[in-house]
Amino acid sequence: MRLMVEYSNHVPVLLDEVVAGLDVIPGGRYIDCTVGAGGHAEAILEASAPGGQLLGIDADPHAVSVTSARLRPYGSSVLLVNDNFRNLEAICTRYSFYPVHGVLFDLGISSLQLAGEGRGFSFRAEEPLDMRFSPDQRLTAADIVNTYFEEDLAEILRSYGEEPHNRRIAREIVAHRPLLTARELAQLIERMSGGGRRGRIHPATRTFMALRIAVNEELESLKSALEQATRLLGKGGRLAVISFHSLEDRVVKAFMHEESRECICPPGVPVCICGHQATLRLISRKAIMPSAEETERNPRSRSARLRVAERI
Ligand SMILES: C[S@@+](CC[C@H](N)C(=O)[O-])C[C@H]1O[C@@H](n2cnc3c(N)ncnc32)[C@H](O)[C@@H]1O
Repeated sequence: MRLMVEYSNHVPVLLDEVVAGLDVIPGGRYIDCTVGAGGHAEAILEASAPGGQLLGIDADPHAVSVTSARLRPYGSSVLLVNDNFRNLEAICTRYSFYPVHGVLFDLGISSLQLAGEGRGFSFRAEEPLDMRFSPDQRLTAADIVNTYFEEDLAEILRSYGEEPHNRRIAREIVAHRPLLTARELAQLIERMSGGGRRGRIHPATRTFMALRIAVNEELESLKSALEQATRLLGKGGRLAVISFHSLEDRVVKAFMHEESRECICPPGVPVCICGHQATLRLISRKAIMPSAEETERNPRSRSARLRVAERI
């Protein structure tokens, strides 16, 4: 019962758009690289019945155990694996799960993780500054906050959080070490910003996002996993990616656009020397966004962007 309440806390975003984007067919074989609470996975299993198969991956062991209870009714149609999607090809090779009809990434964290399991993802929580998706990872947010040089900290906040006050925040963090809980860090940034919010956004939002991206090496893993996913798709298979902030979306857009071009030589090169061949066809040039009705119903969806491409 507790598990059911937990996963019902997470509302999957762009659900119909994902099923349509992946062009799910009965008997198809799909990979959900970020299975989380299993909302998208369940919709894919429903649409691919009878005979569909789904491999669900998540770096978070808690997500996998919650979701395995949710997806139990689908029996042997589902295989759940607790691993990082940066190991996608190795996982698929281990289970002979390829070629596939579709691969989904729904990036970031789930409401299960935000709701608090003691990992400090939410700045409201009196929890240790951890932020690891998986307890097997070594680096925590506390390590970065309490041991990195001020310049390195500022650089993380700048490059992964696009935080305009990165230098000031880094200076204050170093001056107030050690910072042990998510709330301590959030309150420090709140005090620096005069206690106010920037519009609807809490002043610590960008810092928390930057730390999470750095702890989990999110952008590096994503780039590598997109390449692996493309190789696993059969001809006509679909790649669908939902991102929640511009840094992620930039990686996805650049990857899909580059993979949809025959030549990626720099402008001005008279004859092609790159030898690159297109592997993807863009299904829509622009990202698909949630409807007004969805953002009203689920405010978390407001920054979601879905991009879809097809293997050629
Ligand atoms: C937004 S949630 C997915 C929610 C899911 N689509 C649903 O309907 O419930 C993102 C999930 O991806 C997982 N995740 C993020 N980065 C990952 C990575 N590199 N490898 C594996 N899982 C990852 C997180 O642990 C989290 O559970």
